[in-house]
Amino acid sequence: MTGQAAIEVVAHRGSSAVHPESTRAAYRAAVELARRTGHRVELEGDVHFSADDQLVVLHDLTLRRTGGRPDAVAELTVAELKQVDVGSWKVPDPTPEQRELITFAELLDLVAGARDEGVDVGLAVETKHPTARGLDVDRRALEQLADRGWTRPGAPVRMISFEPRAVALAGKLAPALRRSLLVEKDLGPWADGHLPEGVDTVGVDHRLAERHPGWVDRLLARGHRLHLWTVNDTEAMRRWLDRGATGLTTDHPDRALAVVHGD
Ligand code: G3P
Ligand code: CA
Repeated sequence: MTGQAAIEVVAHRGSSAVHPESTRAAYRAAVELARRTGHRVELEGDVHFSADDQLVVLHDLTLRRTGGRPDAVAELTVAELKQVDVGSWKVPDPTPEQRELITFAELLDLVAGARDEGVDVGLAVETKHPTARGLDVDRRALEQLADRGWTRPGAPVRMISFEPRAVALAGKLAPALRRSLLVEKDLGPWADGHLPEGVDTVGVDHRLAERHPGWVDRLLARGHRLHLWTVNDTEAMRRWLDRGATGLTTDHPDRALAVVHGD
């Protein structure tokens, strides 16, 4: 394994193997892991608009899978969303922090608070597309980041999306932020051509990467950084790092840190 210092460990929806995903509990566990080990962990989250025009953090467009009800996230206010139990599907008797959805502003507070205490945590903000409001979700997330001074050089934030236009907008509105393009279907065009300007990292579904080793080779040969998601198996983590991956997005950030740092 080479270049270990540059390898990034990304807690996918927080420490989501242990806690209900995208909850304060999942993100706090990832923060505590970074605190305990002294190693950097990046917290990943997907953001959506609520009905009252706030950004909330969760993966799905509806509450069906994690909340046990069919409502679209965009149709409920934050107050209503916070009444929904998004923890019981995962753990039998969730604590309040495991049960309640977290807003983007609250996640920013969590990261800022941890960093103020000297914990090395960052944030990977994913916007999902298409949305009914186009790239508004990207604009709003960037506004909230800018309000905290987190669009300046050195900000602990990476903008990530499957949508190249979203990545391009981040480059325009917040050029100092790192940007990553996510790929789940066709890596070929990106492996063989040039990535959108300013994109240094490609995040690839590890199953796609397994099936197309040639794409991976060509991407790495161009000097791009390669993150794999969602890699939960320790052997697979080792294999990908040996192969040249520079980042692991995982529900088990504890395992990834142990593989990367050997502790
Ligand atoms: O970090 C990339 C990964 O989060 C993309 O997949 O579906 O978990 O958002 P998904
Ligand atoms: Ca995501």
